[in-house]
Amino acid sequence: MRHRTFGRLGWQVGEVGYGMWGMGEWTGSNDKQSIAALQLSVSRGVNFFDTAQSYGDGHSEQLLGMLLAGHRGQRVFSTTKVPPKNRQWPSRRGVPFAEVFPRAYVREYVDISRANMGIDTIDLLQLHVWEDDWLDRGELSQTIAELKREGAIRGFGISLNRWEPWNGVRAVESGLVDAVQVIYNIFEQAPEDKLFPACRKNSVAVIARVPFDEGSLIGDLTPETTWPEGDWRNSYFVPENLLASVAHANALKPLLPAGMTLPEMAMRFILSNPDVSVVIPGMRNTSHVEMNTDASDAGPLSPELITRLRAHRWDREPTEWSQ
Ligand SMILES: NC(=O)c1ccc[n+]([C@@H]2O[C@H](COP(=O)([O-])OP(=O)(O)OC[C@H]3O[C@@H](n4cnc5c(N)ncnc54)[C@H](OP(=O)(O)O)[C@@H]3O)[C@@H](O)[C@H]2O)c1
Repeated sequence: MRHRTFGRLGWQVGEVGYGMWGMGEWTGSNDKQSIAALQLSVSRGVNFFDTAQSYGDGHSEQLLGMLLAGHRGQRVFSTTKVPPKNRQWPSRRGVPFAEVFPRAYVREYVDISRANMGIDTIDLLQLHVWEDDWLDRGELSQTIAELKREGAIRGFGISLNRWEPWNGVRAVESGLVDAVQVIYNIFEQAPEDKLFPACRKNSVAVIARVPFDEGSLIGDLTPETTWPEGDWRNSYFVPENLLASVAHANALKPLLPAGMTLPEMAMRFILSNPDVSVVIPGMRNTSHVEMNTDASDAGPLSPELITRLRAHRWDREPTEWSQ
């Protein structure tokens, strides 16, 4: 596993981290399998775990708590997210900050998350949605300073809404945030425009999420794919998105070098960018942990392949199904 410096916090993190949404609540999750995958990941150098209170109403945080309890002597970084009080993902423009992240509410959720994970200090606390218009709220910077002073959190970050990397640039430039979490993958290259340069300039860490575009960059979706009832992917891969996603993913297949799979190319595309501090694939089984950590060992893609993949940038506008 190669390591990278996590922005101004200076942490040395394995460049492949761990996304823990799926194991918290996606259909087909199995705790025994998830715990085995988490354990294996640590032995392969993963030390950065991304969860959220909302992932199974604390279930994913509790799974991380079990992992942390078993690795007390080791530096394993915990990052979680405070859900918006109005439970609206993504956040809606114009809704006042006080309705989404009031001070007492943020503090209450810090305590809930610490209890779920069985820890006194959360390494990185993130807000689960973000609007740059909220930046001028003095209350937020005071709350964060207070939580840091009390030792309840070490760092503070924001998780940006899907396909809105522009909607965090001001926060990065303000000095308020230590880290920003954003979708970045072969399709979603827009963070390179303004967000990544701002992060570089301000030593803000970049957490690249959704490396496989929720599954289309695995390469096995078809126009007929469906998920079990209750799986959120039915609401994301609505026909309009599914058909387009399958077409865009299929267009990548002729570019695959011999012996390389689409998931490997997707991971290595992200890891080829030095602006990324850590990429957090969602994984619920040991074979996915093996494949994704191997991607770090394999190193960056060739500059020629990167150039060809740049042409597959796919700029999308947030819409009612994109969440
Ligand atoms: N608003 C937010 O803050 C927000 C939103 C979305 C995601 N996130 C974070 O980002 C993380 C990653 O996003 P995601 O999990 O939604 O999507 P993702 O990482 O793009 O895709 C996850 C899917 O890829 C599969 N997979 C993983 N590695 C694979 C491999 N090598 N080969 C084939 N399939 C593979 C997983 O299968 P299995 O699960 O069966 O292993 C799962 O179905 C989340 O877990 C969460 O921590 C945050």
